[in-house]
Amino acid sequence: MGKGYYISRHLATAAMVLAAIALLTIIALSVVYNREKSKNAAKLTNATTLPVPPTPKTSNEPWDKYRLPDTLSPEYYNVTLWPRLVKNAIGMYIFTGVSGVMFTCVKKTDLILIHSNKLNLTLFKGHHAKLTAQSGVTAPAIKTTWFQRETQYLVIQLEGKLKPGKSYWLYTEFTGELADDLEGFYRSEYTEDGEKKIIAITQMQGTYARKAFPCFDEPGMKAVFHITLIHDLEKTALSNSQEIKTENVIINGTQVARTIFGPTKKMSTYLIAFVVSDFRFISVKDKKGVLVRIWARKKAIDDGQGDYALKITQPILEFFEKYYNTSYPLSKSDQIALPDFNSGAMENWGLVTYRETALLYDSRTSANGNKQRILTVVSHELAHMWFGNLVTLKWWNDLWLNEGFASYVEYLGADYAEPTWNMKEQIILYDLQSAFAVDGLTSSHPLSRKEEEVNTPSEISEMFNTISYSKGAAVLKMLSEFLTEPVFAKGLGNYLKQFAFGSSVYTDLWDHLQKAVDQTPGMKLPHSVHEIMNRWILQMGFPVITIDTRTGNVSQKHFLLEPQAVVERKSEFNYEWFVPIKWMKKHQVQDQLWLLQKSDLHNPMKVSKNEWVLANLNMSGYFRVNYDLGNWERLISQLESDHQVIPVVNRAQILDDAFNLARASFINITLALRTTKYLLRERQYIPWEAALRNLNYFFQLFDRSEVYGAMQVYLKKQIKPLFEYFETISSNWTRVPSGHTDQFTQIISLSLACSTGVEGCRELTRSWFKKWMQNPHNNTIHPNLRSTVYCNAIAGGGAEEWNFGWQMFQKATVAAEAVKLRSALACTKVPWLLNRYLEYTMNPEKIRKQDATSTIGYIASNIIGQPLAWDFVRANWDYFFKMYGTGSFSFSRLISDITYRFCTPFELSQLKRFQKDNAETGFGSGTQALQQAIEKTTAKIKWLAENKEPVLQWFLSEAA
Ligand SMILES: *[C@@H]1O[C@H](CO)[C@@H](O)[C@H](O)[C@H]1NC(C)=O
Ligand SMILES: *[C@@H]1O[C@H](CO)[C@@H](O)[C@H](O)[C@H]1NC(C)=O
Ligand SMILES: *[C@@H]1O[C@H](CO)[C@@H](O)[C@H](O)[C@H]1NC(C)=O
Ligand SMILES: *[C@@H]1O[C@H](CO)[C@@H](O)[C@H](O)[C@H]1NC(C)=O
Ligand SMILES: [Zn+2]
Repeated sequence: MGKGYYISRHLATAAMVLAAIALLTIIALSVVYNREKSKNAAKLTNATTLPVPPTPKTSNEPWDKYRLPDTLSPEYYNVTLWPRLVKNAIGMYIFTGVSGVMFTCVKKTDLILIHSNKLNLTLFKGHHAKLTAQSGVTAPAIKTTWFQRETQYLVIQLEGKLKPGKSYWLYTEFTGELADDLEGFYRSEYTEDGEKKIIAITQMQGTYARKAFPCFDEPGMKAVFHITLIHDLEKTALSNSQEIKTENVIINGTQVARTIFGPTKKMSTYLIAFVVSDFRFISVKDKKGVLVRIWARKKAIDDGQGDYALKITQPILEFFEKYYNTSYPLSKSDQIALPDFNSGAMENWGLVTYRETALLYDSRTSANGNKQRILTVVSHELAHMWFGNLVTLKWWNDLWLNEGFASYVEYLGADYAEPTWNMKEQIILYDLQSAFAVDGLTSSHPLSRKEEEVNTPSEISEMFNTISYSKGAAVLKMLSEFLTEPVFAKGLGNYLKQFAFGSSVYTDLWDHLQKAVDQTPGMKLPHSVHEIMNRWILQMGFPVITIDTRTGNVSQKHFLLEPQAVVERKSEFNYEWFVPIKWMKKHQVQDQLWLLQKSDLHNPMKVSKNEWVLANLNMSGYFRVNYDLGNWERLISQLESDHQVIPVVNRAQILDDAFNLARASFINITLALRTTKYLLRERQYIPWEAALRNLNYFFQLFDRSEVYGAMQVYLKKQIKPLFEYFETISSNWTRVPSGHTDQFTQIISLSLACSTGVEGCRELTRSWFKKWMQNPHNNTIHPNLRSTVYCNAIAGGGAEEWNFGWQMFQKATVAAEAVKLRSALACTKVPWLLNRYLEYTMNPEKIRKQDATSTIGYIASNIIGQPLAWDFVRANWDYFFKMYGTGSFSFSRLISDITYRFCTPFELSQLKRFQKDNAETGFGSGTQALQQAIEKTTAKIKWLAENKEPVLQWFLSEAA
C-alpha cells in the first residue's frame, strides 16, 4: 500500500506553531503511511448461519488456525461479478457473483478450507459449494459445509479423500453487500454537476479479497484470474488485465454490458482490483507497446489534471525496467484517482488506485508540494509492480521488506523522472529522521517478525506502520550504499528472475545479494550480508556512534530518547550493531570504516586540533553520531565560517542529531542551539526543514513563558536574511523561484518571517489576502504560498477575514484548497471566533464528521486556541466519545493534539484529573494516547526543570 495522506502530528504541529501551514502541503509528503486500514480490521460479523459448526473448546482443528494448510494449491479462478449501483428493494447496495477455482491437491485430504467473509453463498443440495473433478477422477461427495467465523473460512468436509496430483473445480454463487466500508468490493460516492454518482471499487490488501469472492486469500497462494464484470451499458469496467471485449447481453430481461478481461499473470489475491465507473481517461503507448492510462472523473480529465501523472509514468516505468533489469511484466498500466478513497494509494497489479490528491495535479490551485507528492506516490506504487507484485513476500511478517523497499526506491524513480528536484536527498527528512523519532522509543519493535507471530487480520494490519515503511527504507538504503548500487542492483535483478511469478522470504534476497558480492572482484565485507543485516532487522532501535577524535576511539550505544527508560524487549545481539561508517576529515572524504564491536580504536579518526571529523556522510547509515566536545566545537565553527564544506544532507544531520542528543541528555542543549547559528547563511531546504522541526519542540515548550520573547528575537534575526533573499530572487514575490526545493524554502522563509515579525512580512501577506477579498473570483495568491498567506491574514485579522475564509471554504471545489482554508481558519487569535469554530465541529453540515477531530487539532495548536479546545473537548466528552471513541484512529489523535503543549505540573494534574473524572465513560481507542500524554508531560516537566534556565540565558545572550 502506498504512503497515506496522514500528516504526522509532530510535523503538522511544527507547521502550525510556526504559523506555517503552507508546510502542511510539503509535510503531507511525509512518511506516515495510512493507518485507515487498521481501524476496520478484524471487524467480523456473523456469516450465514446454516448449519451450526462443531466448535470444540480448545480446538486444534485446521479451521481454527488462521493459516491455510499446505494440502491444496490454486491454479486459476473464473470470477464473474455484478455490482448494482442502485439500491435494491430493501434499500441495500449489493453485488452478485459466481466464482470457480481450479486447484490441485498437494497432500491427501478430505477437507477444503477456503476464505470467505460476509458473503451469502447459495446452497446446492444443502451445501455452500459444488465440487467436480477434472477428467479421469471423480470428486468425493461433500459431507458438510459451514462458515468458521473467527478465521473467515468456508469449511467443506468431504466423504472421501482428494487425490494428490489431481485437479478439482470448486464452484460457488453468492451475494455480497456493496457497502461504503472501504474493504473488499465496495462503493464510493461523489457529486458531479450536482448529480450523485456511485462507483464500485476494491481494496483487497491485506485480507479483503475473501469479501469479494471465496478464495485462498494468502499472498503466497498465487493463481491466474479470469475476471468478468457485468455493468450498466454506459459505465466502464476495469480490472488488472486488459479488457478483451465488452458485449451487450440481456440478463433477466435487463440490458447490461459484460466486460471480459484477459487472464492475469500468476498473482496474489491481495493485488486483485475491479472498478466500475463512468470515469474518463487519457493514454499513451510506450515504445514497447505498453498501454498507459490515467483515469479520473470526467471534469478532472477535461481540466488536464491527469496530465502530470501521465507524463511521469513512462519515465518511471523505464527507470525501473533498467534498475530491476526486468521488463514491465504486464501489457498495460492503469492508474485511477478515486474521490473519497481512504488510503493513500494501492499497488493493485496493472490497476493502481489513488486518492485524488495523490494522482491529480491542477496547476492553477495545487502547490509545488502537491506535485511532488504525486511524483513520489506514483513512483512508490510503480516500484511495487516488480518488487511486491511480480515477486511477492510469502507472508505478511515480511511486509517491511515490501514496503521498505518501495519506500526506498521511490526516490530513485522520482529522481529519474524529475532529475532537477534533488529527490534522493529528501529521503533523510521523510524517512530516516522520521523513523529515528519512533525507533528511539522503548515501545518500538524490530522490523522483522517471525512468521508465526503474525496471524490474525488485525496483526496483519499492524504491520503497516512507520517502522515497516521508513525504517525499512533507511536500512535498505544503507545496505545498497555499503554494497554499492551496481552490486545491489545486480543481486536484486537475479532475485527477481529466480522468483518471478512466485513468492519468497527476505533471506532469499540476502542470498542473492551475497552472491553478487562474492562475484565482485575486490569486494569484501567484514561479515556476510545475513549477519550484518540481522542486527538491523531483528532488534529494534539504532545506535548512537560516539567518536572521540582525541584518541580515535569509536563506540556505540542503543539510542533512547528517554535515557532512563527501561528496555524490556531483549535482543540476542545485546543492542549492538555492525555499523558501516562513511566519513570525512576536513575537506577530504575517507575510506569507509566498520564498527563491529561495542567500542574500537580507529586511528585515522584521531585528528589534530585544527581538523574535524564528520561521520555518516550523506546520512547513508541508519544511526546518530556524537563527538567529543572539541570536535563539536570545530564542526560548529566550520558551519559558521564556510558551511558549504559540509554536505547539505549532513548540515541537516548535525542539526537533527544535536537536538535529539540534547533531548536524550548526551550533550548540552546550548550546544544543540548553537548549531542553528549558521542558519543566517543557509539557503537550502533540507537543513532548514530539519531545523524547523526541532525548533518546533522549543516553540511548544516555551511560547507561554519568558523564554518566548528572547527566542522570537533570535529567530527573527536568523530568518531575516532568508526572507530578504527570496524577496530579491522572486522580484519582490512576483516570480516563483526556479529551483524545486527553493520553492519549499521560500514557504519556510515567508511563514517564519511572518510569525517572528520580520518587518514587511505581515503587511505583505495581508495585502494579498485583502486583494482576494476585494475580488473573490480571482485569487491571485500563488498556490505555493496560499496556506501561509491565509493563516497569517486570518491570524492578523478579525471577523471580516475569518468570515471571508469561511465562505471560500464552503465554496471550494478542489479538496486541497478546502484543507488549506480549513486549517487557516484555526489561526485566528480572536477567542470568540475560535469558540464558534469549535462549535462548528459538532455540526456535520458545517464541518464534515471526518474532518471534525483534525479541525479541533488545528485549533489546539494555536496558542490561544489550545486552552479553548481543551475545555471544549472536556465539556463535550460524552459526545466525542460516542462519536469517535470506539476504534477510530482519529480519536487518539484528538487526545494527543489537545494535550500536545502540556508541560507544566498544573497541566499534568489537570490531565490526571481528567483521566479520573472520565474513568467511567472510558477513553476507548484514546486510552493509549492519554497514557502517553501523561508520560510525555511528566518527561517534559523534568527536562524543563533542568534546561529552561540555560535555554533562556542562551537566547538572551544571542538576542542581545
Ligand atoms: C452474531 O450472532 C450473535 C448470536 O446470534 C448475536 O448476538 C450477535 O449480535 C451477532 N453479531 C452480528 C454482528 O450480527
Ligand atoms: C474458465 O474460464 C476460461 C476462460 O474463459 C475457460 O477457458 C475455462 O474453460 C473456464 N474454466 C471452467 C472450469 O469453467
Ligand atoms: C445475507 O443474509 C443475511 C441473513 O439472511 C441478510 O440479513 C443480508 O442482508 C444478506 N446480505 C446480502 C448482501 O444479501
Ligand atoms: C433472475 O430473476 C429471478 C427472479 O427474480 C431471480 O431468482 C434470479 O436470481 C435472477 N437471476 C439473476 C442472474 O440475477
Ligand atoms: Zn507500498
